[in-house]
Amino acid sequence: MDSIVVRGNGPLNGQIPIAGAKNACLALMPATLLSDEPLTLTNAPRLSDIATMTQLLQSLGAEVTSMQDGQVQAMSCHGAINTRAEYDIVRKMRASNLVLGPLLAREGRAEVSLPGGCAIGARPMDIHTDGLAKMGAEIDLRDGYLHAKADGGKLKGAVIDFPFASVGATENILMAATLAKGTTVINNAAREPEIVDLATCLRAMGAQIDGDGTSTITIQGVDRLHGATHRVVTDRIELGTYMLAPAICGGEVELLGGSIDLVGAFCEKLDAAGISVEETEKGLKVHRKNGRIRAVDVVTEPFPGFPTDLQAQMMALLCTAEGTSVLEEKIFENRFMHAPELTRMGANIEVHGGTATVTGVDKLKGAPVMATDLRASVSLILAGLAAEGETRVGRVYHLDRGYEQVVRKLSGVGAQIERVHGE
Ligand code: UD1
Repeated sequence: MDSIVVRGNGPLNGQIPIAGAKNACLALMPATLLSDEPLTLTNAPRLSDIATMTQLLQSLGAEVTSMQDGQVQAMSCHGAINTRAEYDIVRKMRASNLVLGPLLAREGRAEVSLPGGCAIGARPMDIHTDGLAKMGAEIDLRDGYLHAKADGGKLKGAVIDFPFASVGATENILMAATLAKGTTVINNAAREPEIVDLATCLRAMGAQIDGDGTSTITIQGVDRLHGATHRVVTDRIELGTYMLAPAICGGEVELLGGSIDLVGAFCEKLDAAGISVEETEKGLKVHRKNGRIRAVDVVTEPFPGFPTDLQAQMMALLCTAEGTSVLEEKIFENRFMHAPELTRMGANIEVHGGTATVTGVDKLKGAPVMATDLRASVSLILAGLAAEGETRVGRVYHLDRGYEQVVRKLSGVGAQIERVHGE
């Protein structure tokens, strides 16, 4: 199994290009199931999660052609469709559940394996299934699979009130409603930029959608959707992650393709910590203001709040801040697995339930560490960039799920980082 070896070596300077959003692309790809005409995505990120979604769509009968080294995904789904999403693929990635809504909308039925346990919490599917049930789907759980069938073969529009603004449930219902009979209203919908990106693509395919980006989305069902070409929105989590590199190490880095509207709440916290963020023609420029990083408190929330997917990386920054920071994780119940690893590097962190208290230390020290999820892995790389000595991060396959060319991007701004094979 590969590892990544990082040595702390001072300030970082230069530019880092930010890829298209993994989480947007994972919702956009299943939209191909809604039409028998081609859907082409540009600015797609080159990640193993995208390869998993490709495999899943192919298993359902879609043709997926990857071009330009994976940055263009051309999909087509004109033939017969298999409505069963097998456990062998779904278990690799929770986002596989995003085929449920499109399959039900197109075929009036779907059998989708439940994704199973996940390192960062239980993550049930009740918000998805309750919403689809309101649209006339009968859903039951048998043999580990959700068996869903639309009453009369076609979903019907409904008013759906989400108990929580779930990203995945919003995406599933949004896609399902594009081909339903009548109007669907989603109340308490998620407002993430990835939802707006999906709605923009669906509109380009002929869907009638209003209100994406707000808490109420209205979808007027249409008879059919047509083909389209869509550019995937910038990955705000990759953006935020690399913004933290100069924040932690010093120096000045420009993040190409970045914009403040994607990371507003995160930028407010960076500012409070003493990190300057400036908009440029090409993106965002980040540097550390004079002096030590200041402690800040962080609460994770649905967009536009501070993203849970940047909590681990922010913790890496706060490990060497002056003072004590409190991080509250409100989205997932078990998302501090990086804390004990950071502690092995000399950080002072106490975790009680969903709250982590981080008391800044002068310096972290390199150590062999391991992570159990994607964002935790990258937080350990960030911490290693600022630590004394060598940090070796194991289980790199987590990183490959969500960060393309991490070694090339960070070494391009002067970081000492390499991938070591088979250790
Ligand atoms: C998406 C993102 C993930 C991010 C998360 C929150 C993708 C592919 N993944 O995940 O990176 O961390 O949003 O911003 O876009 N919940 C339920 N019942 C449900 C659905 C969710 O209780 O039916 C709970 C979950 O257990 C979790 C919370 O709601 O505690 C947030 O989940 P959700 O917004 O659905 O996240 P995902 O779409 O899975």
